[in-house]
Amino acid sequence: MNPTGVYAEFHHRSIHDRDAFWAEQAKLVDWHTPPQHICDYSNPPFAKWFLGGTTNLCHNAVDRHLKDRPDQAALIYVSTETGIEKTYSFRELHAEVQRMAAAIKGLGVQKGDRVLIYMPMIAEAAFAMLACARIGAIHCVVFGGFASGALASRIEDASPRLIISADAGSRGGKAIEYKPLLDEAIKLSAHKPEAVLLVDRGLAPMTMVAGRDHLWDALRLQHFGAVVGCEWLEANHTSYTLYTSGTTGKPKGVQRDTGGYAVALAASMKHIYCGNAGETYFSTSDIGWVVGHSYIVYGPLIAGMATLMYEGLPTRGLAGEANGGIWWSLVEKYKVTVMFSAPTAVRVLKKQDPALLAKYDLSSLRALFLAGEPLDEPTAQWIGQSLGKPIIDNYWQTETGWPALSVCNGVEQTATRIGSPGKPVYGYDVKLLDDQTGAELTGANQKGVVVIEGPLPPGCMQTVWRDDARFVNTYWKTVPGKLVYSTFDWGIRDADGYFFILGRTDDVINVAGHRLGTREIEESIAAHPNVAEVAVVGVADPLKGQVAMAFAVIKDASLVPDDKARLKLEGDIMKLVDGDLGAVARPARVRFVTLLPKTRSGKLLRRAIQAVCEGRDPGDLTTMDDPSALQQIKDLLI
Ligand code: PRX
Repeated sequence: MNPTGVYAEFHHRSIHDRDAFWAEQAKLVDWHTPPQHICDYSNPPFAKWFLGGTTNLCHNAVDRHLKDRPDQAALIYVSTETGIEKTYSFRELHAEVQRMAAAIKGLGVQKGDRVLIYMPMIAEAAFAMLACARIGAIHCVVFGGFASGALASRIEDASPRLIISADAGSRGGKAIEYKPLLDEAIKLSAHKPEAVLLVDRGLAPMTMVAGRDHLWDALRLQHFGAVVGCEWLEANHTSYTLYTSGTTGKPKGVQRDTGGYAVALAASMKHIYCGNAGETYFSTSDIGWVVGHSYIVYGPLIAGMATLMYEGLPTRGLAGEANGGIWWSLVEKYKVTVMFSAPTAVRVLKKQDPALLAKYDLSSLRALFLAGEPLDEPTAQWIGQSLGKPIIDNYWQTETGWPALSVCNGVEQTATRIGSPGKPVYGYDVKLLDDQTGAELTGANQKGVVVIEGPLPPGCMQTVWRDDARFVNTYWKTVPGKLVYSTFDWGIRDADGYFFILGRTDDVINVAGHRLGTREIEESIAAHPNVAEVAVVGVADPLKGQVAMAFAVIKDASLVPDDKARLKLEGDIMKLVDGDLGAVARPARVRFVTLLPKTRSGKLLRRAIQAVCEGRDPGDLTTMDDPSALQQIKDLLI
């Protein structure tokens, strides 16, 4: 049956006339050598896109625009933490990226080498990513909010030749030192980088390691006039890895290609975000997350747009003053046409004076896109009415790299539906499967697991870094007898084809739009000498979407005889998590119990704990070993 409607046909063609469809989209980017073969899916689930084509992400993001728009703004950097506001034109960005590329090469980095980037939201972080792409080095950005334990495991897995970092990040005007965390992480990691390149922001003193550590300021001057051409890379050359959480404690390195990613981003800028060259895009995310990779750095620049990179809270102005209207003032000042944020940030803004929204001229803004976590109805209503602009919820993952569900107004103007991130995006053959039988659910409003039939479209993960088996087993083998990609999200589809996302099927939680693995937090807490066992669950929170809640069994109860001692232990455990994973992973509370709810076979009943914490019915407990365990948790919550 052929679909009717402009978008439905567009989507249908993307799946059923795949090669012709994507050959057309591939024209949105520059190729040094055009692709010889559009899609090779001869070895499922590994998809290879645009084989034989050579291109470069940095060329498409920067050099390509030098001809038509050299003096147009490319990177607008605003930090309400340091009061810095600076615009780089494409010409200036080109020069900075070449300086960084020359410095990186000078430190021994070659094509295919990994460069780990552990940086705050400063312009140099974008230079570093683009410089890696330029020379074909693989960047691995680690979120600046992670601490030494999390960083160490990523250093070990990525085995970078070089690490690029800074003296400190800053939050609410307070410096957060990076260098000691980095030094500790390198100490913990079995792999040691040959060199460390450091941006000194003047926020915190740094102890330099002779022979290993280098200062960016000095190398920048040394390479001031550097000319470093773009390396032409085969489309399947790995551009980057980005670590994300899953069911196990060990983070997965999501590996992305070059050509497919460039095409996917260019197409998404046209069909989903509707951003045009010469305009300004403002994404409030962080370069440590996938949204930062795709829609702070690469996507807008590939489209010839200026990208606004913002460091700071949404409620603080450039002089450090309280200012809940800062983002809107930037929209006015830089004539932002497309804005991208997360529901959590909107919930923070909701607490500010609504008059702040009326104060600024937001006429340039066409739409606000929100992603990363479920968009609840009151938040969607509030921001939609306050802004008077379309609010577009879009659903995707670190793994996909760009939206899998959205409306595509660049193809056909499509109504949004509150609570729904829309319909399957072109290229994604999205289905709902019964989690027990694996049967496809085709009826309206049936709950199932959201899956994607292979091949995944261009721009999605190639594999798990250095672990093809993990890629296949984790994502593609969840349904017996079928090779389909599982998103690990529950969903339903209404009678008109709009999807609704109902939460994760695994142990991943979403705290303020940050994706965290409860297992990673459990492993960190279990390292405390007086913790015998621990369960961490995500519990609904009105502001952050979810918060982590920990329940721990104490080894030696005599060491914590009273409430005061328990509070102290709770504080110590939180500090432990802060130091190991970072404050972002710190549980909201750590409560103490004498046993945890488990099945008779010893499996932790996290879902039952979560239900009790949220005041819901824990469901069928016939497999539970000792019901008093759940009762203890209930009693604690009273
Ligand atoms: O559970 C889904 C949720 O966030 C997960 C992916 O998180 P991450 O890898 O950090 O990538 C975020 C990219 C925007 C998903 O598996 N999620 C993401 N977007 C939505 C969402 N849940 C509901 N609605 C969304 N729009």
